[in-house]
Amino acid sequence: MDSAHVENDLVNVLFTEAQIQQRLQEMAQEIERDYEGEELLIVGILRGAVMVMAVSSYGSGTKSSGVVRILKDLDTDISGRHVVIVDEIIDTGLTLSWLTSNLSSRNPASVQIATLLRKPEALQMPVDVKYVGWDIPNEFVVGYGLDYREKYRNLRDIGTLAPHVYS
Ligand code: IMP
Ligand code: MG
Repeated sequence: MDSAHVENDLVNVLFTEAQIQQRLQEMAQEIERDYEGEELLIVGILRGAVMVMAVSSYGSGTKSSGVVRILKDLDTDISGRHVVIVDEIIDTGLTLSWLTSNLSSRNPASVQIATLLRKPEALQMPVDVKYVGWDIPNEFVVGYGLDYREKYRNLRDIGTLAPHVYS
């Protein structure tokens, strides 16, 4: 993709790659502390969450936090397990609301949500989120795994997409 063109599609940069990595590392450490000694199952919402998970799982050392497993297959038996669902952004909350109740019905020890970004004004379903990177305004953002029609996913920073792109 032509990068000069891509720059024109962004209104402004909200978070730089360095800021994002710093925040993800803080969140990963918080999760490690909370689940110390427990076996934790991480459920990632593909595909945007892949970049978030890469850092969350490997970014902050792996001392005594127990085993972290990445669940690819939702048919895995999660009964008795501690589960953290990882997503990159919560918008309406519909996706995570559904997934949380689906997983909760399978007798896990616990289910919590971690998300890099959340748009509180866009929320349509109550979703209880334990770990949030940042709350952002109700605008469409791209980069760092976030896409608009499969574009902009590989941008290193997260920025607001110019409305002329999608209107
Ligand atoms: P929800 O079910 O409305 O919360 O939607 C969540 C999903 O919509 C996210 O996992 C993203 O894939 C996508 N999404 C929502 N808002 C944005 C955005 O601002 N940029 C890119 N993707 C978004
Ligand atoms: Mg998407």
